Amino acid sequence: MLIGKIAPGGVRNSEITPRSVYLNRRHFMQGTAGAIALAALPASAATNERKKLEGVVKTNFEVSPDESLTKYDSVTGYNNFYEFGFDKDDPKANAGNLRTRPWTVKVDGHVAKPGTVDIDDLIKPHRLEERVYRHRCVEAWSMVVPWVGIPLKDIVERFEPTSSAKYVAFQTLLDPEQMPAQKRSSINWPYVEGLRIDEAVNPLTLMVVGLYGEVLPNQNGAPLRLVAPWKYGFKGIKSIVGIRFVEQLPPTTWNLLQPREYGFYANVNPKVDHPRWSQATERRIGEFRRRDTLMFNGYAEQVASLYAGMDLAENY
Ligand code: MTE
Repeated sequence: MLIGKIAPGGVRNSEITPRSVYLNRRHFMQGTAGAIALAALPASAATNERKKLEGVVKTNFEVSPDESLTKYDSVTGYNNFYEFGFDKDDPKANAGNLRTRPWTVKVDGHVAKPGTVDIDDLIKPHRLEERVYRHRCVEAWSMVVPWVGIPLKDIVERFEPTSSAKYVAFQTLLDPEQMPAQKRSSINWPYVEGLRIDEAVNPLTLMVVGLYGEVLPNQNGAPLRLVAPWKYGFKGIKSIVGIRFVEQLPPTTWNLLQPREYGFYANVNPKVDHPRWSQATERRIGEFRRRDTLMFNGYAEQVASLYAGMDLAENY
């Protein structure tokens, strides 16, 4: 039984995440053997090398002066990436051997120019931007992260979606040999997520390839992950291999697992509590006092109009 276990890194989940939250998130993994096949990984598993990204342009996407960047070690050492285990330090410990080159991304569905693109060809035509965003997990903790990425809009336009493309569906790599938790958990792998097309082309939405000016560490979703900063972190699907333009609302992993608790939109909303805990405040990793959670995670000015006329308690 794993409940109450202290993670090897010494961070007890209960210190940061409400107990009900982490117990719940573990619940779906029960019966999957906590250590999964992770113990079988070679000793060299945690060999994430740090590598600077060239040509990164700083932008004026900043947060308030009273919010400082979350430390690199926390951003890269306190993660959810259930393919590598479900403790917060499992992804860092176990994702080191994920092979992120060669890597291809298949783009299909309602687009004029479908194709399977090498990750470097996908990235190359674009300017890499550094953007400092708030990052709010549904578990009521948050960070401030200097992501490096490309506006998703610029990538979307290259494939020329047709008028039937109402949503964009994303898919993570499915490879149980590299992602050991895919061998046993009760999640219906691969992890999938989606955005409405207007959310996807909103200027805030980023396809992330790095953080802190460096190549994205595997545990943060290398080589390509989504960041939509006004939504709870689980929308930020990692290690993407598929982007499909579809007409119908696509399935999403957490919604499939617990539809009453995790909606498709997942907009950060302090007024809509999770059925089992409040979303009114959050614990910023590295701080002691709790902060009030902001509507749309502080990005209301940029995104509120996307939801005009929608009941946000209904469309959570
Ligand atoms: N993507 C995949 N493929 N698998 C996951 O388990 N976890 C999600 C999201 N993306 C997850 C994922 C959740 S619950 C959160 S909060 C964020 O990744 C965490 O991202 P971070 O490691 O950059 O903080």
